[in-house]
Amino acid sequence: MRFREWLESTWCAAGFPINVSELMHGKLDSWFSTLDRLPEIQPIESQFGDSIEIGATVDLPSEFSDTLNHAIESLKPWRKGPLSLFGCGIDAEWRSNLKWDRFSACVQWDAKRVLDIGCGNGYFGFRALDAGAKSVLGLDGYLLYVLQAAMVNWFVHSKNVVVPLRFEGDSVSDEFDIVLSMGVIYHQRDADAHLRGLFERCQPGGQVVLESIVADEDFVPADRYAGMRNVYLIPSVSTLETKLRNVGFSDPMLIDVSETTTYEQRKTQLMPYQSLGDALDPSDSSLTIEGLPAPKRAILIAQRTH
Ligand SMILES: C[S@@+](CC[C@H](N)C(=O)[O-])C[C@H]1O[C@@H](n2cnc3c(N)ncnc32)[C@H](O)[C@@H]1O
Repeated sequence: MRFREWLESTWCAAGFPINVSELMHGKLDSWFSTLDRLPEIQPIESQFGDSIEIGATVDLPSEFSDTLNHAIESLKPWRKGPLSLFGCGIDAEWRSNLKWDRFSACVQWDAKRVLDIGCGNGYFGFRALDAGAKSVLGLDGYLLYVLQAAMVNWFVHSKNVVVPLRFEGDSVSDEFDIVLSMGVIYHQRDADAHLRGLFERCQPGGQVVLESIVADEDFVPADRYAGMRNVYLIPSVSTLETKLRNVGFSDPMLIDVSETTTYEQRKTQLMPYQSLGDALDPSDSSLTIEGLPAPKRAILIAQRTH
C-alpha cells in the first residue's frame, strides 16, 4: 500500500477520517511524492529509548539509502528527537530525552491511553509506549511534524498515531487516562479554554501533565518572546496551579523547573534555522533578545478525581 493510503487508513482507524487531498499546504505534493517512495520494509529491531531507533543499517537494502536520506532531508526542520532510521541519525533541535527524564517517572504509564496535545513528531508518544502505555493519540496542528511521525510509523506500525489536528473544544471526543500538554499552553490565545479542554479529555481518575515556559511573575509579551510571535502569556507556577484548580483538576504538583539551555535546544543540520542561541541576549543569557526573562520551564501533574 502506498504511503498516502496507508496514512489515511491509520487516521481513520484512530477515528479521524481525514483525506490527505483536503490538507492545505504548498509542499503537500512534494512531501508525499518523497514519502510514497519509501520502501516497505520491516526493521528487525526498533527501540523507543532516549533515541527513537528504527532498525539498523543492515536492515535497509542499499538501493534505498539515498531515498531515505532524501526523505529525512525533505522533512526538515526536525525539532524533536533524537531519532535514527536504519542507522541514519536525526539530530533534532531538541534533545527531548531530557524533558522525558524530568517527568516520566512521575506517571503511571502501564496500559494507559494517552492523549498528547501538540505532540510535534510524536517523540513522547513513542517513549510512552515504551514505558507501557497501551496507545497514544497525538495531535498537532502543523502537518510537517505529523508527517515526520508518520514516516517513523510507516516502518514500525506502532500504536502512537499522530493526527493533523488542532486541539480545540470539540476536536476530540474520547476521554484518556493521561493527557499531555507540553510546550503548548503559552501558544494558546485562551489558556483557560485550553485547560478546560484538557479537563474534559481526561477521564475521572486520570492525570494531566502540563509543561510550560514560566516566569517568576506572569507577563504578556508586547510583541515577540524569544523570537516567537505566537506567545500569549508566560505564567508563573502559582498561576498555572490556580488555573488547573479552577477548571477542576486536584492536587497540582510541581515536579520540575529547569532553565532551558543551548545544550538542550540548539541549531543542528536538520534544524538550521533560528534557535534558542539566537533568542538570548548575547551579553546576558538570563534575558531574551527582547529583554524579557530567558525561558525556564515547569512541569506540573494534576489529577481529575471526578
Ligand atoms: C513547543 S512545541 C512542543 C512539542 C512537544 N509537546 C514538546 O513538549 O516538545 C508546540 C507544538 O504544539 C503544536 N500546537 C500548538 N497549539 C496547538 C493546538 N491548539 N493543537 C494542536 N497542536 C498545537 C505546534 O504545532 C507545535 O508542534
